[in-house]
Amino acid sequence: MTSSKTLYEGKAKKIIIGPKKNTLIQIFKDDATAYNKKKHKIFKGKGVINNKISEYIMEFLKSKKIPTHFEKRLNDREQLIKKCQIIPIEFVVRNVIAGSIAKKLGLKEGTKLKKPLLEYYYKEDSLDDPMISRDHVETFGWANRSELKKIDAMSLKINSLLTNLFKKKNIILVDFKIEFGRLASNPKKIVLADEISPDSCRLWDIKSKQKLDKDVFRRNLGSLMGAYEEVASRLGIVH
Ligand code: TMP
Repeated sequence: MTSSKTLYEGKAKKIIIGPKKNTLIQIFKDDATAYNKKKHKIFKGKGVINNKISEYIMEFLKSKKIPTHFEKRLNDREQLIKKCQIIPIEFVVRNVIAGSIAKKLGLKEGTKLKKPLLEYYYKEDSLDDPMISRDHVETFGWANRSELKKIDAMSLKINSLLTNLFKKKNIILVDFKIEFGRLASNPKKIVLADEISPDSCRLWDIKSKQKLDKDVFRRNLGSLMGAYEEVASRLGIVH
């Protein structure tokens, strides 16, 4: 594994300086956390599988003209990425009621939404990542109106592309969280950043509605690695 100075270490990933100017290396860890780190466990091999699933999805999105920070997978745990300044917002897209929205609004989990719902959460662990409005994003300068317009459109396009991709694998894309950044080499350019994996999506089997994502860990529903391996296998990722 590459050894270098750690720039950032989060719950499931670590970022170190890359080999060239404006590059970084994103390292996938085996840690799983939930409920703002109140629950924590290590799943041997989770980082390897998420690295490969995220690579697959980023390559797929790139092939559909979505700009991303992803350059290439370097090895089992590491990806070369373009350096960007992360916008401190978690963008959540929902197709089906589940998770926090079911709890917050007293809605029935599993209800299909008439159209995708886009939500914004301010990335701040000490505040438990509060839900915010578009106006908050602009008022506090986390992103400007034109950036938000681009991000909203990209989020909905990503949702439509991934919904179709997973549908072909008999998986429902219930919801997911994505992040965006401004490229260090060209701050006007907004790209999809971070990762897309079963850590950051809700994925249900189309027939049985069996959960194939981090809810298996959050809710103690069985084998997390079994669920992630099922997703990788349906996507045709050799593990
Ligand atoms: P939620 O229902 O808990 O708000 O989560 C919505 C989606 O976003 C779900 O697919 C899990 C993902 N998510 C993250 O990846 N990181 C987070 O910190 C949170 C709160 C949600």
